[in-house]
Amino acid sequence: MSILLLGAQGQLGWELGASLSILGRVLHFGRKQADLTQIDELEKLVRKIRPRVIINAAAHTKVDQAESEPELAQLINAEAPARLAALAREISAWLVHYSTDYVFDGQKDGPYGEEDPPAPLNAYGRSKLAGDRAIMGSGCRHLIFRTSWVFSHTGRNFPRSILELARQKDSFEVVADQYGSPTGVEMIASATALALSQALSRPENISGLYNLVADGYVDWHGYAIYVVQRALDLGWKLLARPEKIKARSADRSGRRALRPANSRLNTEKFVRTFQLSPPPWQYYVDRVIWAWTRTEKPAPPTRQMLGLRFLPPMSESHKSRP
Ligand SMILES: NC(=O)c1ccc[n+]([C@@H]2O[C@H](COP(=O)([O-])OP(=O)(O)OC[C@H]3O[C@@H](n4cnc5c(N)ncnc54)[C@H](OP(=O)(O)O)[C@@H]3O)[C@@H](O)[C@H]2O)c1
Repeated sequence: MSILLLGAQGQLGWELGASLSILGRVLHFGRKQADLTQIDELEKLVRKIRPRVIINAAAHTKVDQAESEPELAQLINAEAPARLAALAREISAWLVHYSTDYVFDGQKDGPYGEEDPPAPLNAYGRSKLAGDRAIMGSGCRHLIFRTSWVFSHTGRNFPRSILELARQKDSFEVVADQYGSPTGVEMIASATALALSQALSRPENISGLYNLVADGYVDWHGYAIYVVQRALDLGWKLLARPEKIKARSADRSGRRALRPANSRLNTEKFVRTFQLSPPPWQYYVDRVIWAWTRTEKPAPPTRQMLGLRFLPPMSESHKSRP
């Protein structure tokens, strides 16, 4: 079985390359080999390969930049996925795609379900929503995973920026009035492989949109404190201490794009359909900080160095399984 992976060099794409390889032959395409703004070329590529599965991990993800180039965001995040969906339908392929918490305005009290009405606050969110709708309306077999606050040990992301700041400054401010679930790419990638394997083998059509985030939630300020504390536990030399990280309101962030205050997503539909349960967000944050620690101290890791204190106890992880 051939799997066409687009956006193979992004945070998620990189991890998907590994997790999907057990399902079939993964053909990796980064932006250079498959540019989503060159839709006709993309179409030729899909027709030539005729994959059984198309995985689209490519996206215009620069949320602030998208405010000044909404047409480009629309082209990459909506028009290209719409064409991929039409092609997937034509060649009877599955299309796997990723959506975002930024399709919501964050006004809901509690986590968002798949059926909650979207109301994006920014150009990125509008373009992603248009992509979701185009795929859902296309008639192709699809899995859309709506996720949030993605991070990995590669790429630029929140934990990396916080550790850079904590190295340079003894005190700084972080937004405390936006909540969400930090979600590691390892979880999204392994969940994608497991869910896709079921989609390919189960007789009923389980096409659809599924929220997929790690368990639990936190605000950016609490997240920053957690990251700094874990790095200190692992022996990082930082100027900042958790108590010196100050909370501030998003109103004063000066960023171009508005972000939702509440980014929480309810994963019940994913858990029920696939019988899989996302672990706590801290588990993946611990792993990433440990991976960075190991790069700096390439000695064989001890369990203490691993510092995976957020491994859920066996009894608990069994309890939470459906
Ligand atoms: N990051 C988050 O916090 C977050 C949150 C919710 C949902 N998501 C969704 O999750 C998915 C994966 O995100 P990610 O965090 O892995 O993003 P990422 O690291 O920014 O990866 C996106 C990839 O798409 C590539 N790309 C951009 N424009 C392209 C084009 N015209 N043609 C082909 N490739 C192009 C980028 O290449 P360059 O590096 O060359 O630009 C990059 O390799 C996306 O659908 C995103 O919307 C992300």
